[in-house]
Amino acid sequence: MKDKGQDNNFIIYIIAFVAALAGLLFGYDTGVISGAILFIKDQFNLTSVIVERVVSAVLLGAVIGAAFSGAMADKLGRRRSIVITAVLFSLGAIGSAFAPSIPVLVLCRFAIGLAIGVASYVAPLYISEISPPDVRGALVSLNQLMITCGIVVSYLVDYMLTLGQQEWRWMFGLGAIPAVILLIGMIYLPETPRWLVTQGLIDKAKNVLSRTGRGRNADLEIENISKTMSDKKCCWKEVFEPWIRPALFVGIGLAFFQQATGINTIIYYAPTIFEFAGFGTHRVAILATVGVGVVNVLMTLVAIWLLDKLGRKPLLYIGMTGMALSLGVLGIAFHMTNLSGLLQWIAVGSVLFYIASFAISLGPIFWLMIAEIYPLRVRGRAMSLATVANWGFNMLVAATFLTLTEKLGKAGTFWLFAALSVVGIAFCYLFVPETKGFTLEEIEEHLHSGKGLRKLGL
Ligand code: BGC
Repeated sequence: MKDKGQDNNFIIYIIAFVAALAGLLFGYDTGVISGAILFIKDQFNLTSVIVERVVSAVLLGAVIGAAFSGAMADKLGRRRSIVITAVLFSLGAIGSAFAPSIPVLVLCRFAIGLAIGVASYVAPLYISEISPPDVRGALVSLNQLMITCGIVVSYLVDYMLTLGQQEWRWMFGLGAIPAVILLIGMIYLPETPRWLVTQGLIDKAKNVLSRTGRGRNADLEIENISKTMSDKKCCWKEVFEPWIRPALFVGIGLAFFQQATGINTIIYYAPTIFEFAGFGTHRVAILATVGVGVVNVLMTLVAIWLLDKLGRKPLLYIGMTGMALSLGVLGIAFHMTNLSGLLQWIAVGSVLFYIASFAISLGPIFWLMIAEIYPLRVRGRAMSLATVANWGFNMLVAATFLTLTEKLGKAGTFWLFAALSVVGIAFCYLFVPETKGFTLEEIEEHLHSGKGLRKLGL
């Protein structure tokens, strides 16, 4: 089952690292707006409606990009799809930096959103298909690590540029550097052996396997991949076939719980919570937010270390329990009107604990699982569907958060997120499989057998 005997060529780490630069861009380009928007608003004298448009252009682009690119990853290939996103990322960054007006800026941010939508699922897809199973969890989650690094780097860039003049153009423009590195890197990286086999390019697939240190078992791997294929052309109808539905349900369910448990509102609320806890100035609050980002990065590293050892499900249980508890406590802190010194620190502690818990569970595992559980023939399309759901729920939470806090209060809202975390634990228990150590072909075979996806890894 495990390919431990294979020589784990160092090159596979380099390949995963380069592809994961797409994750860095995902994190950077979503994070950078929080600082940049303050200056754009002043310079162009924007109303809140226009501010909202500038901010949400990326989210809208991401939903549309993920929705319309499902067939692209299956038809054009994983590598070419990432190359296209790298071009979009580069043009979008340069365009935003030089944008003469707000409509041009919105258009460029929308283009970046399209790139994020595609890259957010094609990068984990590419890495998962090119990795050997015993390190697949760690390598795919390198993408999530890069997302978290991108968020921290964007905070730091925003912070440093605020010390000087109002340099929002640089904030956007700097995103072009990783984008161009990704572009150059992907031009030289190989296509995944699995996609090559779907195109009948067997020799090329063998060549990639031997370049990535798996030459000895290449014939067997190709035979296993070929077994999962059929002669029919793939189409959207196939994605919804009854045997694939349990995997669709798991992917969309995990997308829902990743977003509906409030990750992005916590990231957004962190400075407020820190100010509320007595960190006097604005600058200190922003620095403390950088601290949240750093915890996110560090705990993602812990997840990478544990995913292929402990497995996906134990981490989901541990992390989501931590999320439920910390959200519950955060709700209590917001419920009290007069916080004593100790309670203020408890509020700060729960934000950090929440981020840490997310980072070892739903953060990386959503993106990892959707790269593992779908059959090869529909993988690109099915992943794009789960990704659209993720960005859709992200937008929905962002759009309803303020109304929720008005109706339920802040405490009530955090308690709602806590309750959803508990439902999420039950969801994982009832429906989510353990994919640790299985090849993608074994996972597919199990799904096809109709034995119940959840039973995999029992
Ligand atoms: C989520 C993003 C979130 C980020 C935080 C990602 O896995 O999809 O919505 O902002 O993690 O680290």
